[in-house]
Amino acid sequence: MEILLFSIPLIKNIILETLSKRILTIVGARPQIIKAAALSRAIRNHCECVDADKCEKSVREIILHTGQHYDANMSDIFFDELGVPKPDYNLNVGSGSHGVQTAAMISGIEEVLLKEKPDAVVLYGDTNSTLAGAVAASKLHIPVAHIEAGLRSFNKAMPEEINRIMCDHSSTFLFTPTVAGMKNLAREGFDMDAKGPYSIDNPGVFHTGDVMFDNSLFFAEVAHSVAPLNEVFSSDEKYSHITLEPGKFILATIHRNNNTDDSERLSNIFRALVDIAENKGIVVVLPLHPRTSKMLKQSLSVELYDRVTNSPEIVLTSPVSFFEMITLEKGAKMIITDSGGVQKEAFFFRKPSLILRPQTEWVEIVECGSALLVDADYDKIILGYDSLLGRQLHFPSIFGDGHASEAILDIILNY
Ligand code: UD1
Ligand code: UDP
Repeated sequence: MEILLFSIPLIKNIILETLSKRILTIVGARPQIIKAAALSRAIRNHCECVDADKCEKSVREIILHTGQHYDANMSDIFFDELGVPKPDYNLNVGSGSHGVQTAAMISGIEEVLLKEKPDAVVLYGDTNSTLAGAVAASKLHIPVAHIEAGLRSFNKAMPEEINRIMCDHSSTFLFTPTVAGMKNLAREGFDMDAKGPYSIDNPGVFHTGDVMFDNSLFFAEVAHSVAPLNEVFSSDEKYSHITLEPGKFILATIHRNNNTDDSERLSNIFRALVDIAENKGIVVVLPLHPRTSKMLKQSLSVELYDRVTNSPEIVLTSPVSFFEMITLEKGAKMIITDSGGVQKEAFFFRKPSLILRPQTEWVEIVECGSALLVDADYDKIILGYDSLLGRQLHFPSIFGDGHASEAILDIILNY
């Protein structure tokens, strides 16, 4: 009898453990850790009513970090700041060529999937970590849930475009943030009316809105109180002369490989930024991706490098935290970027943006006129600056209602 009584909770736990859903989230690059914060939050809220470990409705999230990004300010800082649970696994893959990096990820992810046997693998965006997760999971017949599905630049020279297409076509759940994403998937032959049960051969396509928009709404207020504008740089003596005032500086980020690894494009961009800063007398704040920092000295002429690093109007910093970043975004007069995430955040915070790319997968923000595609073209950047500031801007509702992550979780758990 004693043995039986002792066993009941144990058996209950085993049954509940079996009933609970195990989601394995794969992150690797900075923006994926940020995006993962939204679903992790939804999972925590889902289980809040009961003890997560013992609830039939419970869902367990296992986090795997490929280690694609590894500097503290490209990785750890986001787990700490955004409350993303520490990774259960870190493959520490690091940097390398596409083949070397992706192969190491596939092999490491496969090992973890065989051990953990999750019910679904959640992948974000379009990096090599996304691609590796899609290959490893789909070949083990584990359903892939792709968040940010359907986005296309229609430029297969971008490594990200290959990653997006491969991931979408190995997914069971495709969560699309925008109408353009839905249209792209329809064009590629996805059955937009497919009914569950879903599988890799009968994938479900869902227009859920954007988890980054969820995050911007959720963290915007917290960030404001945590990182007042001038604390962001106050520790750096070099910039003690600068006081950032809301609406009186430009925020710029550059990291896209076709900009950093092409000295002509990189020079065009930096020449335009210094000219705008000096001719308009406006501070340009540049939190530099490590890829860009490494290329700056070797790619710019001595004269341009000197102007960029010594101009009193240009602030070059290491990557900043997400709270610092959204504080800067909210305060900026304009945002100039080649980042996918930053161009969207510009829109979320109702800022005009110049996109340093020939095309974007976030077509709606260009179509509505609040962003301009200026590529790495000096004249287009200079003209675009004046043109955008002279416009009446519109920020229609494009990215959902701020609850994309809850909708996504609900679909994963119920189908
Ligand atoms: C990757 C993604 C890109 C995404 C970006 C987000 C791919 C193919 N590209 O580009 O889609 O927009 O992340 O930031 O997956 N480095 C460091 N420390 C780090 C990380 C990188 O020094 O913590 C340097 C290394 O020199 C490395 C270079 O940055 O070789 C590029 O890193 P990598 O992850 O390969 O590509 P990203 O340009 O970061
Ligand atoms: N970001 C940040 N600190 C920085 C630069 C960017 O927190 O110094 C955030 C930014 O707010 C956005 C995300 O990182 O949420 C975008 O990542 P990134 O530009 O590296 O990649 P992409 O979105 O182009 O894939």
